[in-house]
Amino acid sequence: MLLGAANPKVLWYLTRGFGLVSLVLLSLTVALGVAQLARYARPGLPRFVISGLHRNASLVAVGLLAVHILTAVADPFAPIALVDAVVPFIGRYRPFWLGLGALAFDLLVTLIVTSLIRQYIGHRGWRAVHWLAYGCWPVALVHGLGTGSDARIGWVQLLYLVCTALVVAALAWRLTTRWARAPGSYRLTAAASAAVLLLVVAVWAEQGPLRAGWARRAGTPPVSTIPAVGATGSHP
Ligand code: HEM
Repeated sequence: MLLGAANPKVLWYLTRGFGLVSLVLLSLTVALGVAQLARYARPGLPRFVISGLHRNASLVAVGLLAVHILTAVADPFAPIALVDAVVPFIGRYRPFWLGLGALAFDLLVTLIVTSLIRQYIGHRGWRAVHWLAYGCWPVALVHGLGTGSDARIGWVQLLYLVCTALVVAALAWRLTTRWARAPGSYRLTAAASAAVLLLVVAVWAEQGPLRAGWARRAGTPPVSTIPAVGATGSHP
């Protein structure tokens, strides 16, 4: 935060960097979670290692997200209050897209807390809540694309594609192995829903964040309404 006082743009760079790294960790967490649930194991990679990696990846993701959120709140350019990070869709800054970040964060915290108290809520209760993970990841992805400043940068797009490929591969593997005995209609519905969701996100991204002028359309308040220090208009 001291760095931010010296140069407010540092906070903006930190928000963006930690946001992208958090998304990578979240994608890894989902893939490891799928592998764990589907009882993936290989010689030299026993199940307890996968479950340890899954748990640690989720905890590291929350730590990185804490920095992502605190730097966003501290950034004087963006009028974001701490409450906007936990109560979705109430903020002034890109309300819908930022709200999706708050929603993803709430879901992630719920997943972690219910895992920590799993012995009190029972396996069925924990499992029911853990289905939310499949909602948390796409919500976070759309938040990153919709709120972020970097969706038009080539390597950032590659990063989004790698994260998506990781989660899609894990899901496809799960549908063809662990769920291989589930009724075909279930598997078809799951695969078709994932494909439709991906298509909708891809079409929206192409029409929105990947085009010029998205920052204004995303709901960035006019510079004149943003409090003094960083109100140079240089960040979108
Ligand atoms: C699971 C939760 C979240 C994940 C995975 C996540 C990830 C991301 C990603 C990938 C970006 C794009 C960065 C870029 O374009 O360089 C981003 C942008 C952003 N996020 Fe989050 N985020 C989450 C939650 C939140 C929350 C709760 C807040 C509330 C303070 C927040 C505030 C922001 C802001 C302000 C930006 C825009 C930064 C810019 O100007 O480019 N995020 N986030």
